[in-house]
Amino acid sequence: MDLDLDGNTALVTASTSGLGKASATALVREGANVTVCGRTPERLERAREQISAAGPGSVLALEADITDADDLEWLVSTTVEEHGGIDHLVTSAGGVPPGSFLEMAEDDWYDAFELLVMSFVRTATLAHPHLADSDAGTIVAITSASVSEPIDNLVLSNSVRRAVHGLVKSMALELAPEIRVNSVLPSVLIEDIDAAIEDALADGDFDSREAVLDAWTADLPLEQVGDPARLGDMVAVLSSDRTNHTTGAAVPVDGGRIRG
Ligand SMILES: NC(=O)c1ccc[n+]([C@@H]2O[C@H](COP(=O)([O-])OP(=O)(O)OC[C@H]3O[C@@H](n4cnc5c(N)ncnc54)[C@H](OP(=O)(O)O)[C@@H]3O)[C@@H](O)[C@H]2O)c1
Repeated sequence: MDLDLDGNTALVTASTSGLGKASATALVREGANVTVCGRTPERLERAREQISAAGPGSVLALEADITDADDLEWLVSTTVEEHGGIDHLVTSAGGVPPGSFLEMAEDDWYDAFELLVMSFVRTATLAHPHLADSDAGTIVAITSASVSEPIDNLVLSNSVRRAVHGLVKSMALELAPEIRVNSVLPSVLIEDIDAAIEDALADGDFDSREAVLDAWTADLPLEQVGDPARLGDMVAVLSSDRTNHTTGAAVPVDGGRIRG
């Protein structure tokens, strides 16, 4: 299926690894020009090389912190200057700390709100005039399966991310028919599985590779760790005109975790 993204421009936030990078990779493979961003110069350069190799689209890699309003302004204006506009916005973010309700300090809530909610609000506000000028305007927010089904010991993700879920629903109504707004709900999609397992073993909570994998996949009917590329494919499809009758949707890429 041709997604007809040739020559379109996508801005993908927090995209030097994982789900943001996989989304940028899929969009470049389909012919879009992309801007990616992150805070670490070496990761940016590596991501730029890897994403560029995926397809014909050109890749602009910009050092920016999505919790910094000035950085976001620069990210959007530089994208428009270099690529000539923005047709697709894809928002990813860093992760928020794990923990339970009683473990969280007041600042943890404000930090999570800045990272997950305000970064989305600010980027979408800045990108909006350019998306509205496009005849293909889309927003895809990468959130989490936790917005639909709470995950143990992830109270910040379970609660604060729901604001983005609500925004996607509201904005889908408000910005239609010019701009479509959807979200994807990931669970257990891991780029470098060996490194992730090493980290889990080093934390001391597991005594074998099998025990780690069993714990990660216990709630997933598909019984596997997912490839971030599958989420990238979903983002590319939701950004393309092939889904021009879909807005306000929250699409799981979660191995079947969400039951409801
Ligand atoms: N992977 C999953 O299965 C899964 C499941 C549920 C939810 N999620 C959520 O989806 C999002 C992406 O997950 P992931 O697996 O792709 O994570 P990841 O591999 O850790 O990637 C995070 C990316 O965001 C960048 N980043 C982090 N904080 C940033 C900031 N303040 N400003 C700019 N860039 C920033 C990181 O680069 P720098 O650190 O160099 O800036 C990196 O490129 C996270 O919010 C995560 O909690 C993921």
